[in-house]
Amino acid sequence: MVNFMIIKVSKSSVLSGDIYISGSKNASMPCICAALLTKQKVVIENVPDILDINNLLTIIKKQGVKVKRTNNTITIKAKRLKTKVLSDLVETLRGSYYLMGAILSRKNKLKIKYPGGCNIGSRPIDYHLQAFKELGFKVIEEENRIIIKEIERTPKDITFPKISLGATINVILLTSTFSKEVKIINPSLEPEVLCLIDMLKKMGVSIDIIDKQLIIKGTKKLKGITHKIIYDRIEAGSYIYLVGAIQKSKVYIHNAPIEHLHTVIMVARKMGIIVYKKDNVLVVEGNKGIKKINLLIGEYPFFPTDLQQIITVVLTKAKSSSTIEDPIFPNRVLHIKELKKMNAYIYEQNQVIHIKPSILTPAIIYATDLRCAFALIIAGAITSGTTYIKNIDYLFRGYENPIKKLRYIGVNVEIL
Ligand code: EPU
Repeated sequence: MVNFMIIKVSKSSVLSGDIYISGSKNASMPCICAALLTKQKVVIENVPDILDINNLLTIIKKQGVKVKRTNNTITIKAKRLKTKVLSDLVETLRGSYYLMGAILSRKNKLKIKYPGGCNIGSRPIDYHLQAFKELGFKVIEEENRIIIKEIERTPKDITFPKISLGATINVILLTSTFSKEVKIINPSLEPEVLCLIDMLKKMGVSIDIIDKQLIIKGTKKLKGITHKIIYDRIEAGSYIYLVGAIQKSKVYIHNAPIEHLHTVIMVARKMGIIVYKKDNVLVVEGNKGIKKINLLIGEYPFFPTDLQQIITVVLTKAKSSSTIEDPIFPNRVLHIKELKKMNAYIYEQNQVIHIKPSILTPAIIYATDLRCAFALIIAGAITSGTTYIKNIDYLFRGYENPIKKLRYIGVNVEIL
C-alpha cells in the first residue's frame, strides 16, 4: 500500500451531534465472497464504501464476475469465475483470502497470491491451508503464491487449535457446496461469522450451531438472494471511545449494533464514559475523569482486539496506571512508538501493555495500520496544539467517510 496522505488534528474541545455507523467491513468481505458460490444474482446491502471492499470488488471483477455498486448496495453475478487470482491487489488486503474458500467451493483448482492486511504482527494462514488439505485438497506454497488442487473432496470434522475468524469463514465457504456434513470444532462465532451464516442459510445451505460447534450441510444449488450486512461494531466502538475521551461531549450514535457491543459498553462505563440507549440510539457522553482498567482482550463476546489501540490512547488520561493484554494479536503494538513521540508513558512487557498517566503533546506521527490511524486521531484530538499524522491512508481501508463523520461531530481534522 502506498501511503502519502497527511492530516492535521487539533485539540477538539466538545464533541456533539450525530454519527451514523456503516455496515461491517469484516462481515462484508466474506458475504461478498459467498455471492460467488452461485451463478444467480446476489444483492448485498449496507456494504461500506471503503478501500478494502473496493479492492476486493476490483479483484472479483478481474475473475470475470459482474459487479455493480449503487451507493451501499452491491449486486454480484458470478456466472463465470476464473481460478487464477494473481492481481497485486490480493496482497493489499486480508479479506482476499476468502477467495480461496469461495473459488474452491465451485472449482477444483486455484492459484492465488498471498493475502496482505494490516501490519499487526505475524498473521499466518496455516489453519486455512491445513483445513483445505484435510478436506481433500493438495496445497503447494510458492514464494509469492499458493496453488491448491482438488484430490478428492472429503467431508470430515475440522478442529482449529485456536479460534480463527478467517479460517472458520474459509471452511464454511468451501464446505457450503459439499454434499455431506462437515463439523467445525472450536470455530469463531463472532457476529461477522453469524452474518455470513445467515446469508448462506438463505442461499440454501444448512448450518447449525450446536454446543459451540458448527455443523454445515452444503448444497450444489445455492440460490441468489438479498442480504443485509450487520452494522460495524468496531466502527461504533471507535466512536464511543473518541467521544468518551473528550469531556462535556454528547454524541448520538445511530445504527450502533448495541446487541454486539455489551463488553465494549461495559468497559467504557468502567472507564468513566457515560453510555446509554435512548430510542434505539446510543448516546455517549464525555468522561468526568477517566478511570484505570486492567483489560484482558479475547474473542467475542470478550473485548475486541481491534479496539486495543484506541482504548490505549484514552487510558493515557486515567489518573493511575492501566494494563491491556491481547493474546490474539500481542504484537499489535506499533502505535506505542508513535504515542511515545507525543510523550505518552506506555510500554510493552511480556506481551502486556502498560499505560501510565500522561499528558500528550503534539508531534509528527505515523499511522501504521487501520486501527492505529483512528487511535492517533483520538490522540491528536485530546492534545493541546496540532498533531500531524502521516500515512493516514490506512484509515480509509476500514472507516467509511471518516473525515466527514469526524468533522461533523466537531473533531478538528483536516486533510493536507
Ligand atoms: N491464526 C493462526 N493461524 C491461522 C489463522 C489465525 O495462528 O491460520 C492466529 C492468529 O495469528 C491470531 C488468531 O489466530 O493470533 C486469530 O486470528 P484470526 O484468524 O481470527 O484473524 P484474521 O482472520 O486474520 C480477522 C479480522 C481482523 C481481526 C481478527 C480478530 C478480517 C479481514 N480481519 O483477522 O480485523 O482483528 O479477525 O477478530 O476480518 C481489523 O479490522 O482491524 C482487523 C485486523
